[in-house]
Amino acid sequence: MALHGRDIISIRDLSREEIEEFLAASRKMIPYAEGTKVAHPLADKIVAMAFFEPSTRTRLSFEAAVQRLGGTCITIADASVTSMRKGESLHDTIRMLSSYADAIVIRHPNEGSARLAARASERPVINAGDGAGQHPTQTLLDLATMQEAFETLSGLKVVLLGDLKYGRTVHSLAHALTLFGSELILCAPPTLGLPEATRTRLEQMGARLVEEPNLERAVHDADVLYVTRIQKERFGDEAEYRKVAGSYRVDAALLRAAKPRLAVMHPLPRAGEIAPEVDETPHATYFRQAFLAVPVRMALLDAILGKKGA
Ligand code: NCD
Repeated sequence: MALHGRDIISIRDLSREEIEEFLAASRKMIPYAEGTKVAHPLADKIVAMAFFEPSTRTRLSFEAAVQRLGGTCITIADASVTSMRKGESLHDTIRMLSSYADAIVIRHPNEGSARLAARASERPVINAGDGAGQHPTQTLLDLATMQEAFETLSGLKVVLLGDLKYGRTVHSLAHALTLFGSELILCAPPTLGLPEATRTRLEQMGARLVEEPNLERAVHDADVLYVTRIQKERFGDEAEYRKVAGSYRVDAALLRAAKPRLAVMHPLPRAGEIAPEVDETPHATYFRQAFLAVPVRMALLDAILGKKGA
C-alpha cells in the first residue's frame, strides 16, 4: 500500500481504493490485535503520542497498537506538564519530537493544528483529532465496523445523529461514506447542523443528504445509527450548550421500530445519548467499534512505518 511514510491529516488524503485496500489489511490484523498471533514489524520504532486534549480510547488504542506490533511509545498525555506551559510553540514541540520518534500521533483542540504539525515534523504525522476539524483514523475504524456488520460499505443508509456542527468524527465519516455511495440522514438539533462548508463539499461530491430532525423517522429503515455526543468543550457560551443538552436519547423503545439489523454506533465517550439498556440489545455495536480501533490503528502504523508497508 502506498501509505508508507505518509501523513494522515484528513480523510480526504485517502482515495476510495486506498481505503478499501486498507480495510482488507485491517481485517488481517484482528488476530494480532487479540494477541492470538504475534508479529513485530515495528520492533525498532518509536511512536510519539502528542495529546493536548483529553482522550481515552484514541490514545490507548494507538499505544496498544504500537506495542502489539513490537514498537515503543513516548507520550504526552497532559500538555500542562510540558514546556508548552513555558510558552513553547506547537511548531517547536513537534519539530523536536520528530527527532525523537519515527512518527507522531497528535490530538489538539485547534482545527488545522495537525496540518501545522505535519509541516513542522520531519516524520509522518497522524491526526487523532484537531478541534472540530477531522478525525480520520476514527473514520477508518468506523468503516471497518460497518464493513464487518454488513459485509459491504456500498449503499448503506446511515443516520448521523447529534452534534454535526462540532463533531469531527462526523466530518470525516460523512466524506468517506459519500465515497462509498451511502445515503446520509442528518438528524441534529437546529443549531448543530453540518457546517455550510462541509455540506457544500459533500454536495460537490454528489452526496445523498437528507435532513430528518425527527429521530423516530430518521431511524426507520436505516442500516446504521451513528450517535455522537454534544461537543460541550467547543461551545463558546455555556448557555448555548444548555439549550441543546439532553435533546436526544437512543433507548430500547426507539429501537423497537428499527430494522432488526440496525447497528447503533458511537465513537464514545457517551454522555447520556445512549441509554445503558441499549447495550443489551443486538443493535449495540459501539464496544466492538472501540475494539476495532486496535487492529485498524495497527494496520495504519504498519502501512506507514512497517518494513515494506502492509
Ligand atoms: C471522539 C473525539 O474525540 O472526537 N472520541 C473518540 O476519539 N473516540 C468523540 C467525542 O469526543 O465525542
